[in-house]
Amino acid sequence: MGIKGIQEFLGEDWSKVEALLKGSLHSSVELLDRTNAHLSSNEGKMLRPALSLLVSKACGTMNDDCIRVAAASELLHNATLLHDDVLDDSSVRRGAPTVLSTLGTKPSVLIGDFWLARAMDLVLRCEKHSHEILTCFSDTVQDLVEGEMLQMTKAESGDTTEEDYFRIIYLKTASLFETVCTGAAIASGSDSDSAAAVKEYGRLLGMAFQIKDDILDYEGEALGKPTGTDLKEGKITLPLLGAFKKMDDRKEKEIRGMVSAFPQQPEGCREISATVKALDGTGYAGLRLEEYVSQAKEAVGVLPDSPAKSCLLELADYCRYRKI
Ligand code: FPP
Ligand code: MG
Repeated sequence: MGIKGIQEFLGEDWSKVEALLKGSLHSSVELLDRTNAHLSSNEGKMLRPALSLLVSKACGTMNDDCIRVAAASELLHNATLLHDDVLDDSSVRRGAPTVLSTLGTKPSVLIGDFWLARAMDLVLRCEKHSHEILTCFSDTVQDLVEGEMLQMTKAESGDTTEEDYFRIIYLKTASLFETVCTGAAIASGSDSDSAAAVKEYGRLLGMAFQIKDDILDYEGEALGKPTGTDLKEGKITLPLLGAFKKMDDRKEKEIRGMVSAFPQQPEGCREISATVKALDGTGYAGLRLEEYVSQAKEAVGVLPDSPAKSCLLELADYCRYRKI
């Protein structure tokens, strides 16, 4: 079915989310209004709002608050990308120049702040449980910042362990997936067992999503962003950690030293990528990915069978097989 098929399945509810997103991004400041419209026209996968609506349908009753939570999840996600492009000095995202590269650092940070504020505003406007849902979103904002700070520290020291890696990807990616699912469950009036199940599903799906992202950075071709960037940014991700397991301590130490010297000294980047390929580091990461995907599917096993539940199972497979 894929993401487009899921959007079609969501029908009118999907159109409501799109309309709410569009309506949330107006500004009386011309540059901001124009840039927001431009960013909205290149929307990306829209995975988080699709996930949000599916969870609401699978464990409760769809209502206007579910639409608000779905739209808020995409606004927050895009806010983080506008900030992330500054942190990573990225010039391309979704196959297009970033705000950072066209307008500069200050607009990218400020526009990210605007999207963040609009996300929080939508959550606050929920007619029921707004405080509870806002708590989930603000906890996740804290996680996102902590994840990026930890990743930054580890990129400098070059000593990322597998435990550090899983902590970083929980904080920077899976926490938002978890909040999307919890927020959607609360908004839809889900019972507590179903809410706990989709929270776990969201966490596992988010972990799988980021592992796949890190695999694609080594072997993807059509990501809409350049590949090989993690290494250049000094990030030690799961494919490289997998390759470390197959080399001696001296070689591992040498590579860790080289990676932590990036991006100032980018020599050796291609050589390290070739080593990861030769030692099948992506194969190792692929095994962990499969574990997360099957655990995510198990987590939603307790939900009553429904077309929305089938889509949640498909979404888990999408995270395993996606090419972009
Ligand atoms: C992309 O990861 C970035 C994130 C998943 C999180 C970014 C979070 C922040 C910048 C901090 C919090 C910001 C706000 C607005 C609260 P990546 O760099 O691995 O992936 P990429 O290749 O898509 O850039
Ligand atoms: Mg980045």
